[in-house]
Amino acid sequence: MAMLTDTLFRPLRDLRISLTDRCNFRCRYCMPKEVFGPNFQFLPKDTLLTDDEIERLARIFVSLGVRKLRLTGGEPLLRPNLEYLIARLASIALVEDISLTTNGSLLTHEKAKRLKEAGLKRVTISLDSLDDDTFMRLNDVDCRSETILSAIDAALEAQLTPVKVNMVVIKGTNDTQVVPMAERFRGTGVIVRFVEYMDVGNTNHWEMQQVYPAKDIVNSIHDRWPLVPVQRSQPGEVATRYQYADGQGEIGLISSVTAPFCGACTRARLSAQGKLFLCLFASSGFDLQHYLRQGESDEVITDQIRSIWSKRDDRYSELRSSQTMVKSKVEMSHIGG
Ligand code: GTP
Ligand code: 5AD
Ligand code: SF4
Ligand code: SF4
Repeated sequence: MAMLTDTLFRPLRDLRISLTDRCNFRCRYCMPKEVFGPNFQFLPKDTLLTDDEIERLARIFVSLGVRKLRLTGGEPLLRPNLEYLIARLASIALVEDISLTTNGSLLTHEKAKRLKEAGLKRVTISLDSLDDDTFMRLNDVDCRSETILSAIDAALEAQLTPVKVNMVVIKGTNDTQVVPMAERFRGTGVIVRFVEYMDVGNTNHWEMQQVYPAKDIVNSIHDRWPLVPVQRSQPGEVATRYQYADGQGEIGLISSVTAPFCGACTRARLSAQGKLFLCLFASSGFDLQHYLRQGESDEVITDQIRSIWSKRDDRYSELRSSQTMVKSKVEMSHIGG
């Protein structure tokens, strides 16, 4: 069968699977406490995909071309028995990469080891500041940077490599931490990725003035430690990569606001409830769980996904404007970034 592509000729290569919409952090840019407070209604547990359902859907997606799986949340380490699910996903032939995006707060040395043994290849850990005041103001649950630095060590020790660290840079909030973060991780093998603050969801009151442009980030680091651009290793990669000229490792820039990369976007997203989203900024998803729980065959579900993907024309970041920004968008914690 011919390769499945969407209307912009983009194949389906990556599947990001959200395992839960819950999180133990309340990052102001993602789950502000005013909205995600004690009365917030998270998804009822019995509506979440089971391990069986996730494995089944993952196999179907792989049959349609997916080669990379990424587990996300909310916070994916809140999912009980994650090791079992990973082992099942790792047993799927043709899967080349299984990774996890986590806030790191629950990633102990023991957990990291168990995840690695189950078949997880690598982790990406979010850390927005080394300075505790700034970090705690952002995570809003009093988590200190030391906790996350220890998770990064655990990931390195368990060889969940290359370990990447995501820093969302918000002008006037944590931009003074760009150079310290670069300095802290130079020479450690950890790849820091500086992420432009995005207008995901409807709750973070994002404003264009809060975006600290990737080119300013590169310049500020380059002034201290000269950088050289690295060729993209994978088509569809979100980060633009640079190496330190003195051989002390690399950094990445995720510039979805100032330099969108929709043209090569091969990512599908599955919510914890089994809805298929075609873009991080989509308003709604296609309910695949319905088919699973109706007892439909793999063939029927495969055909549905094929038909959905072949009609895909999403490219939100390239079209971002005052008009697109007012539409209702899925929350980041629901779709995992
Ligand atoms: P790698 O495979 O290691 O390159 O992972 P990744 O960068 O795709 O995943 P990660 O979860 O670390 O995401 C990093 C940042 O990029 C997060 O802020 C994501 O929300 C953002 N991101 C990931 N994919 C997309 C995308 O398709 N579109 C946009 N606009 N942002 C994305
Ligand atoms: N803009 C950019 N990145 C974000 N993330 C969460 N919300 C935003 C946002 N509004 C990041 C998290 C995590 C990744 C999945 O997405 O910090 O590293
Ligand atoms: Fe923060 Fe990630 Fe939790 Fe969102 S899902 S509140 S970005 S830790
Ligand atoms: Fe893909 Fe949508 Fe991100 Fe563009 S904005 S890269 S289409 S997920």
